[in-house]
Amino acid sequence: MKTLDDLLSEGVSGRRVLVRADLNVPLDGDRITDDGRVRASVPTIKALVDAGARVLVAAHLGRPKGEPDPKFSLAPVAVRLGELLGQAVELGTEAAGDGTVVLLENIRFDARETSKDDAERAALADELAAKADAFVSDGFGVVHRKQASVYDVAQKLPHYAGGLVLAEVEVLRKLTDDLQRPYVVVLGGAKVSDKLGVIKNLLGKVDRLLIGGGMAYTFLKAQGHEVGGSLLQADQLDQVRGFLAEAEERGVELVLPVDVLAADDFAPDAKFEVVATDAIPADRQGLDIGPATRELFASKLADAKTVFWNGPMGVFEFEAFSGGTRAVAEALVKSDAFTVVGGGDSAAAVRALGLPEDGFSHISTGGGASLEYLEGKELPGVSVLEA
Ligand code: 3PG
Repeated sequence: MKTLDDLLSEGVSGRRVLVRADLNVPLDGDRITDDGRVRASVPTIKALVDAGARVLVAAHLGRPKGEPDPKFSLAPVAVRLGELLGQAVELGTEAAGDGTVVLLENIRFDARETSKDDAERAALADELAAKADAFVSDGFGVVHRKQASVYDVAQKLPHYAGGLVLAEVEVLRKLTDDLQRPYVVVLGGAKVSDKLGVIKNLLGKVDRLLIGGGMAYTFLKAQGHEVGGSLLQADQLDQVRGFLAEAEERGVELVLPVDVLAADDFAPDAKFEVVATDAIPADRQGLDIGPATRELFASKLADAKTVFWNGPMGVFEFEAFSGGTRAVAEALVKSDAFTVVGGGDSAAAVRALGLPEDGFSHISTGGGASLEYLEGKELPGVSVLEA
């Protein structure tokens, strides 16, 4: 696999370089609420700019319906990228002068980007390839997508792995090939259905699996507890019972919440009480793990040598229900283990809660991408770079 350093040593002055970045950031109106992915994309772009390349960046934002939609414009991202680079970044359609950066508008405004039809994606990839002399793949968060600007375009231009993709893949390899035990994985987030593949694969690898967040209630229900109005995926109960049985067979310690904050409403100012998980009232919903669970999880993390964490423990966006997520994050910061925060909401939570980013060994920019890697799936946007 050729890398950014190879491209830089070939010389890029005056050459048009297309960079696929993952600039898919959370927005509140046109305000970026977490710019982690923009910051993570800067080093590769800056290295190319400093070497005199004509940089053209392709990226997506959200999931527009294959046509322009102002709600999903990358305009606020162009401004932030410009601030971080210390030079203006225009939204445009072609690379400009030496040492400049132009950002293409949301690539998903073109339906061919995400098309399942190879020929449609190839046609868009041809158009992108005509705008550049080389392709640098640096959007780690999107390498699990077989999309025109991630996968197909790499087949049409000399291609190189960017610094971010290289760094992320190296970390994930440590979680699979070079593992120090005990290996503890903490999973949270709303839906167990999003994590089925990863749980299945991890049961054969981890020593302990701690489960919190909305997905925990389906596990609690599968164990025979009533969960009141908490999030429940009844159609996943059989699958989850299977996981509980498999964990036992394999000697994996599967740790579930023992208490929760049971609230009378899904709202920041909801009234709540701490209840044991075998006593959740019918008219209450669990919005965070409780204090005993926080201690329990921290104790299960204390002797870990490797930790991967994906998904918040509660509705951390509401201050009153952010304590569980904070407790797990703090336990990771305290730990001497190799600690990896797997993208998406958990990475945003770490920053939103004001925890020191350097307290973790690695905060991934890829939620879905890191989970798919840990599921044992091939990442098309990485494999294509090896060809
Ligand atoms: C992400 O946010 O995980 C990546 O940017 C990929 O976005 P997608 O799930 O919409 O493909």
